[in-house]
Amino acid sequence: MNSPKKADFFEHFPIIVIMAKILIKNIKGLVLAGENFKPYLKGEEMANLPILQNAYVAKEDGVIIDYGSMDDWQGLLDWRDVEVIDAENCFVLPAFCDSHTHLVFAKSREEEFVDRIHGLTYEEIAARGGGILNSAARLAEMSEEELFKDAMKRLALVQTYGTGAIEIKSGYGLSVEAELKILRVIQRMKKESPVKIKATFLGAHAFPKEFKENHEDYIRLIIDEMLPQIAAENLADYIDVFCERNYFSLEEMEEILIAGAKYGLRPKVHVNQFSVMGGIKKAIELNALSVDHLEEISDDDIQALKNSSCMPTLLPSCSHFISIPFAQGRKMIENGLPIALASDFNPGTTPTGNLQTVLSLACVKMKLTPEEAINALTINAAYAMGLSETHGTISVGKTTPLLLTKEIPNLAYLPYAFGDNHVDKLIF
Ligand code: NIG
Ligand code: FE
Repeated sequence: MNSPKKADFFEHFPIIVIMAKILIKNIKGLVLAGENFKPYLKGEEMANLPILQNAYVAKEDGVIIDYGSMDDWQGLLDWRDVEVIDAENCFVLPAFCDSHTHLVFAKSREEEFVDRIHGLTYEEIAARGGGILNSAARLAEMSEEELFKDAMKRLALVQTYGTGAIEIKSGYGLSVEAELKILRVIQRMKKESPVKIKATFLGAHAFPKEFKENHEDYIRLIIDEMLPQIAAENLADYIDVFCERNYFSLEEMEEILIAGAKYGLRPKVHVNQFSVMGGIKKAIELNALSVDHLEEISDDDIQALKNSSCMPTLLPSCSHFISIPFAQGRKMIENGLPIALASDFNPGTTPTGNLQTVLSLACVKMKLTPEEAINALTINAAYAMGLSETHGTISVGKTTPLLLTKEIPNLAYLPYAFGDNHVDKLIF
C-alpha cells in the first residue's frame, strides 16, 4: 500500500490560510497596526511597538480593509462568505519578513558541522574546498525541477514559523548556467507561492576553483555574461557580493556592484562577517539597501551607517551555528541605528529559516528587547527588502499576511519560550 508522501504533508499543512474574506476578532493585541508609519524605525524608536488591545482586523482578497478596537466595531458591510476567527488570548502581527536567505540549495552539509565540533573553523573548512564550493558542486548535479521542489518545501516550512515574505539569493551556481538555473527556480517560486519573494543575484559568492588564481576572468563572466542574461530575463531584484578576506575584495565588490547598477540592481551585500575591510562604507557609497552580517564592526562603520538610509541586517542564527561573535545589536541601537533581523537560511552557516529562533537569539545574545526584535523582523525587515509599501505593518491597503499566535500571555513570551512554535496560522 502506498503511504502518503512527505510532500503531501507540506502541501496540506493546515497552518496556512488563504481566504477571500476573513475577520479576526477579539484579538488580545493587534501589533503594528496604524497608518503613516515611517519606512523604518531607528535607535530609541525601535523600543516602541504599538499594540492595539482587544482588536479586530479584516482582509478581503488578501488586502487589509479594516482594523480597530472591538469597542468601535460597527460590523462588516457585507457579511456574506466571511470566515470569522475568534482570537481571544492571541496576538496578531504582520507576518515576519526574511530579508536574507539562500533558500535554493542542493544538499545539507552535516559533515562540516561535525568538523566544526572537532575544532575546525568555518574558514578552515572553506579553505579545504568545503563551504560554498561544496554546495556549488552538489547543485550542479541537480535539475531545476528538483531544486524547485526542495525549495518549495523549505518555503512551506518557514511559513509555518511566521515568514510571510522572503528574499532568496542565488550564489550556489558560480557558473553562467547554474546561476541562471537558481534564478529561474526563484522566478518560478514567485509565480507559484502566495509568499512575496525578492530575488538577489549572488554570482560573487565565492571564486570557483578554476578561477582561484584568476579573479578577473570570473568577474568578467559575472559582468559580461551573467548580468546581461539575468537582466534580459528579469531574473533579479537585487545584487549581492560576499566581500570578505579570501572571497571578494573591496575593489572587486565595487566593480561588480557598479556593473549591477547599470541594470538597475540595487546592492544588498554580505560584509563584515569575519573581518572589517571597509565594505560597509563602500556599500553605502554604492547605494546599498542593506548591509548584512556585521559580526565585526568598527566605530567608523557605525558612523557611516548613521548618516545613511542603508539597513544594517543582523543574522544571529549564523553566529550561533558557526560559533562566531554575535553582531553588536544593542550598541548599534544605542548609537541611533536601525536594525533588521533575518535568518540567513543556508546549508553551511544557518540550516534553519525559523525566525522565531532568530527573535529569541537576538534578545538573549544581542540584548535586544522583544519589542525591538519584533520591529526588526517586521517593519525594518520589510524595508530591507523593498517591501515597505505592502508588508511589515498592518495598514489599510497592505497585503502582508497576518501572523496569528497561539494563546500566549504576552509578546515577550515569543522569544522567552524559545524552541516552541507559537504560530497558530499565517493568513494571506
Ligand atoms: O551568509 N557568508 C556567506 N554566505 C553564507 C554562507 C554560505 C555557505 O556556507 O554555504 C552566509 O553565511
Ligand atoms: Fe548569507
